[in-house]
Amino acid sequence: MSARDESNQLSGHTALITGGAQRIGKAVTQALAQAGADVVIHYNQSAAAAESLANDIRGAGGQAWSVGGDLSDSSSVPALFETAVAKAGPISILINNASIFPASRLTSFSPKQLQENINVNALAPLLLSRAMANQKLPGHIVNFLDTRVVSYDAEHAAYHISKRMLHTLTRMMALEFAPRIRVNAVAPGVILPPPGKDEAYLNELAKTNPLQTVGALDDIASSVLFLIRTGFITGQIIYVDGGRHMRGATYG
Ligand SMILES: NC(=O)c1ccc[n+]([C@@H]2O[C@H](COP(=O)([O-])OP(=O)(O)OC[C@H]3O[C@@H](n4cnc5c(N)ncnc54)[C@H](OP(=O)(O)O)[C@@H]3O)[C@@H](O)[C@H]2O)c1
Repeated sequence: MSARDESNQLSGHTALITGGAQRIGKAVTQALAQAGADVVIHYNQSAAAAESLANDIRGAGGQAWSVGGDLSDSSSVPALFETAVAKAGPISILINNASIFPASRLTSFSPKQLQENINVNALAPLLLSRAMANQKLPGHIVNFLDTRVVSYDAEHAAYHISKRMLHTLTRMMALEFAPRIRVNAVAPGVILPPPGKDEAYLNELAKTNPLQTVGALDDIASSVLFLIRTGFITGQIIYVDGGRHMRGATYG
């Protein structure tokens, strides 16, 4: 990883990034560390990747820790936040990135499937955000939505419901936690293929957005940094999706 950027604009901040060891979460973790923030990399199964990323960041002169936890177990989420604080001190930036994306349809998903999507994708972000607000310190939260919150993803119905819930929570938390904490969201479009899918799948999906292309990890990371650095914005959603949100088509 490259050295810290010269501006060090986020020095003095400590960020907790859920699912921060892989893919989009990793890119956001690296961008925050490069901007000077201390980072707590949350993982569920990627313990080795989280520790390796933390090592890289420490090697580049930053401060980094890893902390494990299964966000589908709602009762353990507040303790996970406390573990992060015990390691790194108060959290001033929370990135609710971790997510599950299983296929499911409205006509057949089980109550358990729906509950698991809600637990990981919406309830854990709320519980972590509440724990952060209870610190009574200034801070910033970025939730990860999906451009499909504005259309209808019939093949991922439980996921869709949970992301719609996080969409609503973004607005509710922005109002409830103001003025101390700003709460915004990034809604990615076609960025990385889900497990089992390849670049061809992404390129096919890219045709559904007006810009006809796939987004880059840096497009996401720079949007997160913009939201954190811009003090007069709260309750905002940035669609990083090549314009896909303007087309209200249905998937599936
Ligand atoms: N990829 C895209 O193009 C795209 C498009 C639209 C929206 N998004 C949104 O952007 C965010 C990042 O996307 P992504 O594709 O990078 O996500 P991802 O790879 O599907 O998942 C991110 C991380 O979530 C963690 N996670 C999953 N289940 C968990 C659980 N039960 N407890 C704790 N952590 C759990 C995993 O951590 P471990 O590896 O440690 O288990 C995983 O690495 C997500 O919120 C996603 O919905 C992505």
